[in-house]
Amino acid sequence: MVSLALDSAILAETYDRVSDRQFNHGKLLIEELQISTGESVLDVGCGTGRLGAHVAELVGPSGEVSGVDPLPLRVALANGKRRPNFSASVGQAEDLSRFAVGSFDVVFLNSVLHWLPEKLGPLREARRVLKRGGRLGISSAARERPHDFERVLADVLSSLGVTGTAEALGSTPHKVTSDDLKSTLLLAGFEDPKLQIRSFTDHFTDTDDVIAFYLASSFGNFLSNLVPADAARVKPALAAELERRRAPEGIRLQRHLIFTVARAGGADGGEPASRRAGERTTRR
Ligand SMILES: C[S@@+](CC[C@H](N)C(=O)[O-])C[C@H]1O[C@@H](n2cnc3c(N)ncnc32)[C@H](O)[C@@H]1O
Repeated sequence: MVSLALDSAILAETYDRVSDRQFNHGKLLIEELQISTGESVLDVGCGTGRLGAHVAELVGPSGEVSGVDPLPLRVALANGKRRPNFSASVGQAEDLSRFAVGSFDVVFLNSVLHWLPEKLGPLREARRVLKRGGRLGISSAARERPHDFERVLADVLSSLGVTGTAEALGSTPHKVTSDDLKSTLLLAGFEDPKLQIRSFTDHFTDTDDVIAFYLASSFGNFLSNLVPADAARVKPALAAELERRRAPEGIRLQRHLIFTVARAGGADGGEPASRRAGERTTRR
């Protein structure tokens, strides 16, 4: 099970430093959303806010970007980006009740959906806070096309006889297939979903670089449920397998992501997931 209690200042700062991969594919997602000056945007699972700060520049002073993320240390780094039209707060995709119906032109989740155990509730929340016709953008690991690293890790664990799969051990455990995501989007009130799998090639300096990336990206969950004796065996075996993939630029690994853009259909969304007294406010 994914824990939100394993993050640390070091992991959060490392993520801010090593997340060029998420930032770069996130910029491609943002391009697909065709964001314009003056729009209001919600970044769900904003992390340390690199992409949110980029979108704040795109919407300009007449626009506004809000971010939510459950990890306070990452929210603090996001607010430290000091963009006057970007503010982040602690919160979760499952409960966007702090935002009124129809608050946003665009909602996006970049490398976040595969961390959510249940998709329909968060997508209904995204629909509720979007204006009718507003755009939703998602990039998410694809269940039908695992990343190279997940296959390498699964082989290593199985060769060592370590119980549990790579998924159970914290590498993006809640992936969806494109088909499931499409049908869930329609159920949540989105129209005209366009999905495509895009592949990205990464290069890493060495095994420590790979591990640091996955630990920071998983906010401490990566391999966190291994007993220390097993963890000690995994690292050298992983290093041996990863070295076989070394190219002149470094250890070469491909990732495959479902890129999704959809429109909020129908009437404005209904009640928020949580309606606890006093919890609902408008954005400003
Ligand atoms: C790989 S990071 C991506 C961060 C950011 N979107 C980016 O592009 O760099 C995944 C993020 O999902 C967030 N997350 C995990 N569970 C969440 C939930 N239930 N609701 C919203 N965000 C969540 C984590 O806190 C983490 O910041």
